[in-house]
Amino acid sequence: TSPLKLGVAGLGTVGAGVVSLLRANADLITARAGRPIEVVAVSARDRGRDRGVSLDGLAWHDDPVELATAPGLDAVVEVMGGSEGPARALVEASLAAGRPVVTANKALLATHGVALARLVEKTGATLAYEAAVAGGIPAIKALREGLAANRITRVAGILNGTCNYILTEMRVKGLPFATVLKTAQELGYAEADPGFDIDGVDAAHKLAILAALAFGRPVDLDALHIEGIRHVSALDIALAGELGYRIKLLGIASQEKGGVTARVHPCMVPEASPLAAVEGVFNAVLAEGDAVGRVVLQGRGAGAGPTASAVVADIIDLARGRTAPLWGAASETLDASPALPMAAH
Ligand code: NDP
Ligand code: HSE
Repeated sequence: TSPLKLGVAGLGTVGAGVVSLLRANADLITARAGRPIEVVAVSARDRGRDRGVSLDGLAWHDDPVELATAPGLDAVVEVMGGSEGPARALVEASLAAGRPVVTANKALLATHGVALARLVEKTGATLAYEAAVAGGIPAIKALREGLAANRITRVAGILNGTCNYILTEMRVKGLPFATVLKTAQELGYAEADPGFDIDGVDAAHKLAILAALAFGRPVDLDALHIEGIRHVSALDIALAGELGYRIKLLGIASQEKGGVTARVHPCMVPEASPLAAVEGVFNAVLAEGDAVGRVVLQGRGAGAGPTASAVVADIIDLARGRTAPLWGAASETLDASPALPMAAH
């Protein structure tokens, strides 16, 4: 059987993790994909940087957008990041050329999801994004496929690994905010601009994606209430503890009579609640459906291994020819309802 040939744009935490995982588990991935998966071309900025994986024999492209049309590729993996610039250009050019894309880029999806859905509908190309929400937790598949029979009334969760890691380390080890943020960056958890993490923007991107899937409509990111953890102090955490609570950055979206409300902010969570036990880089995704009731998934929300796990799952789907609609029901209602009114609580 012919291999699935990939071009990988971005060789940082996630890109190097994907190349490494494809090699480490090649036997079982080939068996599950039904064919070998080969990375044949890559792009990053710095050719000289050691990335911990061998790039011998791979075609190097200084311009990542070339991967959209470079001959001999079956699909593109976009793991550079950013809602604009080369990441957006590459994803759009690939889809326009009918070339499938796997991405971990929640900023791009949350900002340009409607336009990308239109492009996908027009060209029929696949855009897969399991890694964009909650790292290694298969939250997209769970909402879109596993809970497809349900009317979802609420999605919520701990959606940023960096923030949860910072809040945990501050509480458990008494370390200062800035020290833990630096460690989170060294561990590959944080965004290129860590302001996206600590100001709640990354969690808002993920919540917008979950809400679009859950409620079947695109979400107006600008209407979300977004507050981060920059101002949460050691004293806040200690006082919350004395009262029997832990401080967690939560994203919460719910279906109300007049529309959908969505918000991201630090919350006091009772110590006995399951969310309080989700610590460190772990994330949790909670969904409430009319038939199933409450479902809670948890696992590592950031880092090379967990994120590569989700990206490679999408790649295996592509190799198998398994596709799913971009936004579940949302893509079907794009023209009827371009944006839901979103209000802050
Ligand atoms: P990194 O900053 O570690 O890596 C980004 C990579 O993109 C680098 O290899 C960089 O090249 C390359 N790159 C950036 N700009 C360009 C350009 N103009 N041309 C070519 N290459 C470029 O980011 P991550 O791996 O952490 O994140 C990648 C994506 O995955 C982002 O969308 C992020 O939000 C998402 N994500 C990250 C997770 C994580 O835990 N880190 C988890 C889930 C999603 P060079 O190395 O030469 O600088
Ligand atoms: N910076 C993100 C986080 C990466 O810390 O959760 C995973 O999306």
